[in-house]
Parts: sequence; structure tokens; C-alpha cells
Amino acid sequence: MNASLVLALDFPSADEALPLARRLRGVVPWMKVGLELFTAEGPRVVSELKNMDFKVFLDLKFHDIPNTVKGAAKSAASLGADMTTIHHAGGERMAKAALEGVREAGYPTLVFAISILTSTSPLEAGYTTDGEVTKAVAAKALQARTWGLPGLVCSGLEAAAVKAATGKDFLCLCPGIRLEGGSDDDQRRVVTPAMAVKAGADFLVMGRPIARAADPRAAAMAALENMAKVC
Ligand code: C5P
Repeated sequence: MNASLVLALDFPSADEALPLARRLRGVVPWMKVGLELFTAEGPRVVSELKNMDFKVFLDLKFHDIPNTVKGAAKSAASLGADMTTIHHAGGERMAKAALEGVREAGYPTLVFAISILTSTSPLEAGYTTDGEVTKAVAAKALQARTWGLPGLVCSGLEAAAVKAATGKDFLCLCPGIRLEGGSDDDQRRVVTPAMAVKAGADFLVMGRPIARAADPRAAAMAALENMAKVC
């Protein structure tokens, strides 16, 4: 199994996020800094996580005119973010601008396109069935690959179709991961860690099921064990 677990540090302050990250050193290799934490704390939280030897996923979901996204992606790469996100809906010129920004920064940040948020049901996304969503996501993946992006964010329900459409080197990052019996919270297209790995996911993003667990370390271990079940 080559899939990596990413913990979403969805907290309002570094004082809450960083102690949890510290407790999970050596267990979870990637930490995700999203809109809430970055808006509150800014770049220093990325530096602190890098200093703890984590790989950092700066998930700011850029979606703006190409020039603005180029600058934002350049800033993310200059910070040492190992991965970042743009919205697929921003189109080809925006995606290429993001890649250009990363190139100018000279740090190999992976830029992933968000396809359809895992928190939306097929109906909310404008489709009637899971199958239609899968088809649409696979088509977005093909486009993203053509634009030169290394991967796509999608649900584990779509990962196999994305891989089939694009080839195994195009990376799949899947949020909306839940252990059996856990709450879906606001997510709608969820799978277990084992299902995501089996479908070919390269990165599994989990937040609340680990971060809000009574014992986050045990929850992370349970997720990793479930991921390993596939082999
Ligand atoms: O707590 P939970 O496991 O639902 O957290 C999922 C994380 O993944 C959140 O930080 C969310 O912002 C992020 N994410 C997502 N769906 C996407 C892209 C990112 O849930 N399509």
C-alpha cells in the first residue's frame, strides 16, 4: 500500500492544532492546513509544521483570475507547502497560471484540482445519480491531467474511475473518509479508508474522525490499520 494519510487540522488556532500534530508525529506523515487555521494564524503555522518534519498540504482551494491564482500558488510554494489546491472550475488558464507560480517559486509543490466537493450529494452538485457524478469527475480528471496538473481531489467513490481514465501516475486525493459506524458530519460522498485505498487513492484526508476523537492517536492508528487491510 502506497497511500498516505493526511490529517486535516481544522482548528481556530495554532494552540489547538500544533499540540495534536506533535502527538501524531511518527504516525501521520502529512498535516493539512485549511482555510480556518490559515486565516487565523497565517504562514507561521506552515513553518512550524515543516519544522516538525511534516509534509504540509496547504488546502486553500484557490479560485480566482489566473494572475491572482498564479501569485497565490507562488506564495504557497515559497512557504514550502508540499501540496496545494485550486478549483477545477477555474479552468485551464487558471490551472496553468498556478503551475507557473509554483515554477517561479522553485519549490515542487503539487497542485491538485478540486473536482466536486465531497460534501455535496449528487443532487446538490446538479446530478441525479452517483454514476453521473463519477463520470463528471473522471472527465474533470482527464482535463486536469491535460492542463499539466499532477492530481485531482475527489471522493473515494470516484477514485477508481479517475485512475481508469487518467492512468495510475495521475494522483487521487480523497477527503470524505469515515471509519465504519462513524458520523458522516457534513460530508455526503464518503468511503472507509480501506475502500479508498482499494479504489486507488494516493492520499486520504481525514479531519474530525481523528482530530475530534477522544484518543486521536488511537483513531489515526485505526485508520491506518483499515487502510492496510487492502493488501
Ligand atoms: O473532518 P473531515 O474528515 O470531514 O475533513 C475533511 C477535510 O478535507 C476538510 O478539511 C475539508 O476542507 C477537506 N476537503 C473536503 N472535500 C474536498 C476538498 C477538501 O472535505 N473536496
